[in-house]
Amino acid sequence: MLADVIVDLQYGDCGKGKVANHLCKVNNYTHVVRYNGGCNAGHTIYHEGNKLVTHHIPCGVLHGIRSIIGPGCVLNVDQFFREIEELESAGISTKGLIKVASNVHIITDFHIAQDSKDTEIGTTKRGNGPAYRDKYARKGMVALEMPELAEYIIDMYEELHNNEEFEEVKILFEGAQGFGLDIDWGDYPYVTSSHCTIGSAILNGVPPKAIRDVWGVSKIYETYVGAKEFQGIDPILDDIREAGQEFGATTGRPRQTNWLDLDLLKKAVNINGVTKLVVNKIDVLEKVKFWKLYEGVNALEFSEGAHMKEHISHFVNGINKDIEVLFSGNKEVI
Ligand code: IMP
Ligand code: MG
Repeated sequence: MLADVIVDLQYGDCGKGKVANHLCKVNNYTHVVRYNGGCNAGHTIYHEGNKLVTHHIPCGVLHGIRSIIGPGCVLNVDQFFREIEELESAGISTKGLIKVASNVHIITDFHIAQDSKDTEIGTTKRGNGPAYRDKYARKGMVALEMPELAEYIIDMYEELHNNEEFEEVKILFEGAQGFGLDIDWGDYPYVTSSHCTIGSAILNGVPPKAIRDVWGVSKIYETYVGAKEFQGIDPILDDIREAGQEFGATTGRPRQTNWLDLDLLKKAVNINGVTKLVVNKIDVLEKVKFWKLYEGVNALEFSEGAHMKEHISHFVNGINKDIEVLFSGNKEVI
């Protein structure tokens, strides 16, 4: 067995979907597995001129790869069927490709009603937190109990470890949210209710030794959506929001913006054991023509993008010289 893992190193919305699509094209994965979160996540996918937003279903389905909602996730059944319909009507064949682990926990209407009252955290109000709360209180309902899911259900152990269909199981793990929203490592309580690190992928049923690459994804600036104060003081950060179209894929909320913090990035790189780093949205800073980042409390400004990129690469290779650092703008595949 072999697995590559995609982790977001900031607060979600760093472009994991783009990296996932690229990796699906260049590697012969047998499975793509979503390992955490629920329909609080949103992936924007452009397929033959159509704009599609999926919340639960991993991008493997676009490449004809078996796509699994793993045991670390929580699932809104109505949303799941809406997504399948949307994909099908955009001409994407999903038949036999989408699977749900039998022990995925279900987001109920009650969970959504409770979450909709949240004012303190600034949640996406999709019932995520209450669903995980009931999971850990051992009061939850699992996918196996839902008759309408019967044709989608798999046993995760059998699928990954006892599967004669594949000579070798090769998985791409695609997470949701990001390091700064992780329940243990994020800025509690302004976090989501699941684990957003490499540890979370492993919890979905693979041994650590199966992990080949850990693809860390960040942006060249930071964004965050939620109740805490996050926006930096430079007015140009508002221009970055506009230029980067930083509005939530799930809720449409404007994202607060700030400069990249290299110290935070270092923490996320170290804890996840990142082997490849993708820094996205370079084109946005090119558009606003302003290059700045923080190393802890020290602000650094650069006269041009190339210098900032050099600084980031140098910094990251100071953490570990073997990390491959890739910069990417909107149009590049990586
Ligand atoms: P919840 O996950 O809906 O409970 O929201 C908790 C926090 O995580 C809030 O600040 C949300 O805005 C944030 N959040 C949850 N999912 C995402 C995501 O996919 N992208 C960005 N932020 C998210
Ligand atoms: Mg997103």
